[in-house]
Amino acid sequence: MVRSPHLWICAITLPALAMVIDISKAHLLNEFYPDRAALVVEQLMLKTKEDEVDVEQPIVRSLPLRSRLVTRRLSSYDFAHPGGPPRHLRDFVNPHPTAGDLSLIESGERSHGSQAFETGRTLGNSITRALEESHSEEDSQSEAGPLNLPDGSGFAQQKIPHIQVEWNACKVISAAGGVGVMLFALSMLLSQLGQQAVEVSIHYSLERHSSVPFAEAGRKVLPAPCQAEVCTLELLVPEDMPAPIHVMYHLDPFYQNYPNYIQSGSRKGAWPQLTGKILSGDELRKHCPVTATRESAHGSFFPCGLQAGSFFNDTFKLRRAKDLKELFINESSVAREDDLKRMRNPPGYPHGEDMEWLFMRYPEVISLAEGVKNQRFAEWMRPSALPSVLKRIGQLDEPLSKGETILVEIGLRFPASTIDVEKELVLLSPSPIGGSSHALSRFLLYASASCWVLALIVLLCEKCCKRPLGHPRFERMRIAQDSESSESDGAV
Ligand SMILES: *[C@@H]1O[C@H](CO)[C@@H](O)[C@H](O)[C@H]1NC(C)=O
Ligand SMILES: *[C@@H]1O[C@H](CO)[C@@H](O)[C@H](O)[C@H]1NC(C)=O
Repeated sequence: MVRSPHLWICAITLPALAMVIDISKAHLLNEFYPDRAALVVEQLMLKTKEDEVDVEQPIVRSLPLRSRLVTRRLSSYDFAHPGGPPRHLRDFVNPHPTAGDLSLIESGERSHGSQAFETGRTLGNSITRALEESHSEEDSQSEAGPLNLPDGSGFAQQKIPHIQVEWNACKVISAAGGVGVMLFALSMLLSQLGQQAVEVSIHYSLERHSSVPFAEAGRKVLPAPCQAEVCTLELLVPEDMPAPIHVMYHLDPFYQNYPNYIQSGSRKGAWPQLTGKILSGDELRKHCPVTATRESAHGSFFPCGLQAGSFFNDTFKLRRAKDLKELFINESSVAREDDLKRMRNPPGYPHGEDMEWLFMRYPEVISLAEGVKNQRFAEWMRPSALPSVLKRIGQLDEPLSKGETILVEIGLRFPASTIDVEKELVLLSPSPIGGSSHALSRFLLYASASCWVLALIVLLCEKCCKRPLGHPRFERMRIAQDSESSESDGAV
């Protein structure tokens, strides 16, 4: 999974896209419906600038006002500590290196007794003395008991490096534009790489609809409705297809992701049976509550459940038309290794009274020797996340050349027409990124266009109708006057 390029594409593009949407939305909200806090900060910044122009005071003098320092972004912490204009967190920290160090008071108590704390003056003296002592103690490294010092780590003291970007219009536009360029480049790259894939789909059922967005674009689908129980189609290979060629089936729509369906193959469903346990009586009824998925006329199904009962059992045979030689479909690497390792036929298989084993249910696909370890079955039991199912049957180890005719023999067994599912046989010579990735590159293209549109909207707002700093855009949001706000702040 870590080696799959799609994982990395998603891991990078989705957060980037989400960030662009988030910051543009936040910027536009601030532009049209600013909240009170933002306005207060803006007015403060304005006032600070005026102050600076009016009087050139030394910074120490203006410290009580603390307006000079409030040019950076404030946090909610500042608003929670009123008393004049909002202050930055930094202002609350005593700059003395030993501030907050309780060991001084402890050692002061030890050396001078509690009487020393009677007046502020003596306290001051004792602390000064204690400070000197503690310094000398440190120097001489004399023995001292364990001190209750606060945790000095960077994490506890909130000194871990951090970045907080203040998103102004310019940064929002460049971020959105930049992400747009990245997504566009990725989209172009994917569609280039995807062109190396050769995919031929044979659509052999009657229905025709698709549940996956963007998927239809650029796919070559040969319609070849098949009505007899076994039908043979002729396929003209449109391009050279290098080996290996994946042979896959595509069911659309087929909701393997539906909760009931997933559960029927999970631990609460047929999974114990798949790993070699025989369930009976109440236990079996609990795991497979629906009678139709549990019992047949010949006995009880093994494994039971909806998922095992809806196994896709159409069969396919491929022959070269020129010599009628059958192309061998190698099934050896269809299912995942881990799945196969965990699956086990139960003790006593294939004997057992009143049991309908898999090879009896799906005789054309699953042999007696394989049972639940059949590759195609094991792969089927791993539910597909999307509303359409695309699973492998096997692979051809020999190449097909352009212009060649292939005879495709299809055995129709899966009752698709009753549940309105379309079926396709897909032959695919994969590209470095799997298939042709049309859907993904389309998605990325639209996403990059959306980023640019957002950047454009922000740019237009900035150029044509920028909100004046410190004022709400609409009258009804006017905030309290300065005098009022400072009064209320002082009361707290
Ligand atoms: C094929 O599978 C379907 C359900 O998965 C089942 O109803 C049908 O009887 C099977 N047919 C054969 C011939 O195995
Ligand atoms: C099937 O493919 C596997 C590798 O994927 C290979 O080891 C095996 O020999 C192939 N089987 C046949 C019969 O060609």
